[in-house]
Amino acid sequence: MEKTFLMLKPDAVQRGLVGKIITRFEDKGCKLVGMKLIKVDRSLAERHYEEHKGKGFFEPTVNFIMSSPVVAMVWEGKNVVAIAREMMGSTNPASANPGTIRGAYGMDISRNVIHGSDSVASAEREIALYFRPEEILEYNKAGEEWLSE
Ligand code: CDP
Ligand code: MG
Repeated sequence: MEKTFLMLKPDAVQRGLVGKIITRFEDKGCKLVGMKLIKVDRSLAERHYEEHKGKGFFEPTVNFIMSSPVVAMVWEGKNVVAIAREMMGSTNPASANPGTIRGAYGMDISRNVIHGSDSVASAEREIALYFRPEEILEYNKAGEEWLSE
């Protein structure tokens, strides 16, 4: 089953949005298979955003995700990578659809509440950055048969 890596960024934790955002993914039907509250160090932050190295927003973005605890999560489901990106909305909350997480909870691109993997390959890379294999749990979830065939 497809997995994605989602991170509730420091602004989401500080603003008390953790429960509301997790509820959206639970309500959608996604399955939580890994979760931890962590403080990201510089080495991890730089590896997380390595595709953006050299860009103007790289340093501020790296510093931001190190600034306060984040919630790192792995969610599972059919097409969950694309579904989660749709639910997050576009990168800039100022122009994100107001029905999306960034559109509902953000005002500025530098404080856009949530990170989500942009492809299955990115998800695999990012999950491995944040989780050991034994921290991803396999279990049967009640009602799975009512979500898809
Ligand atoms: O997070 P997403 O994949 O939607 O966007 P990205 O283009 O991969 O950029 C990664 C992160 O860098 C964004 O989520 C923002 O936190 C930050 N960023 C920024 O602060 N200013 C920009 N002009 C672009 C990105
Ligand atoms: Mg990205």
